[in-house]
Amino acid sequence: MKILILGDELLRQKAVPVKKINKSTEEFARNLVEALHEGKGIGLAGPQVGVLERIFAVHVEGDVPRIFINPSILETSQELVKYEEGCLSIPGVYADVVRPKTVKVQAWNERGRPFTLEADGILARVIQHEYDHLEGGLFIDRLSEEKRERILAKMARAESREKRKHRKV
Ligand code: NI
Repeated sequence: MKILILGDELLRQKAVPVKKINKSTEEFARNLVEALHEGKGIGLAGPQVGVLERIFAVHVEGDVPRIFINPSILETSQELVKYEEGCLSIPGVYADVVRPKTVKVQAWNERGRPFTLEADGILARVIQHEYDHLEGGLFIDRLSEEKRERILAKMARAESREKRKHRKV
């Protein structure tokens, strides 16, 4: 599976609900977890691999890999916390993002079993980050405009450096 990078329009589209959870959903979930491990990430959503469906995988240290299908965020804490985020679709970029500290989410797993989960810490963070992907959102949207511009400019410079390098060889 190829992970799409910032600039790809698919990352900006709203994903549609998974209609039926079947064998192929299970297989896709497995591939998603595999791509997540390959990319050394802790979360990966369908739209990031070009599948505009409401499904994402999360695997944080000390926990098992978890699949969320058609998730709903039921509750978020009033308490907000700052945490450094990165994204497999925005390589090399890390920035502090403020979000609710805890989250209560309802979803289905890859076997079609519904579950409700109350998450805190890094798990709560990744769930919210991945949920944003289903809505066409990226963590850089949650930064100040100034900070976002700085990051985008830095990425553009790195990209043109990369292009010059290739021209020489
Ligand atoms: Ni991401």
